[in-house]
Amino acid sequence: MKIMVINGPNINMLGIREPDVYGNENYEGLVELIRNYCESKGLAVDFVQSNHEGVLIDAIQRAYFDKYDGIVFNPAAYTHTSIALLDALKAVKIPCVEVHISDVDKREDFRRHSYIANACIKTIKGLGFAGYLRAIDALMESIGD
Ligand code: DQA
Repeated sequence: MKIMVINGPNINMLGIREPDVYGNENYEGLVELIRNYCESKGLAVDFVQSNHEGVLIDAIQRAYFDKYDGIVFNPAAYTHTSIALLDALKAVKIPCVEVHISDVDKREDFRRHSYIANACIKTIKGLGFAGYLRAIDALMESIGD
């Protein structure tokens, strides 16, 4: 089983951006945590982080053409704005779990709505970096390994 972990805008700024909300660990630490977890589960994993919506769409399409089994996706602020990302996920029909490091329901009202949730099997929020690992568990349960 092969999964793609996609992170959207400003996730590369973890450790610098709003540590009270997102913690002190950086993006490299997040990648290492997920890589180790996938290794322990015998999963192949690739990572994409971009601040650009079109690059995220290209990554989702590549997941289709390169036959990935699942996607873990934190679209960051594009969660709340992007119909294009929703359409990309609907197009490829690859099982996707939406992750948010913070609890988006307990923040500003505009963070409560997710366009991409409509194309995801599950949404995990407010668990910090561990949310990505729970998303991988959910993917494995849904796809089988
Ligand atoms: C986020 C929540 C979003 O509302 C925000 O725009 C982000 C990160 C999270 O992981 O908690 O950039 O997706």
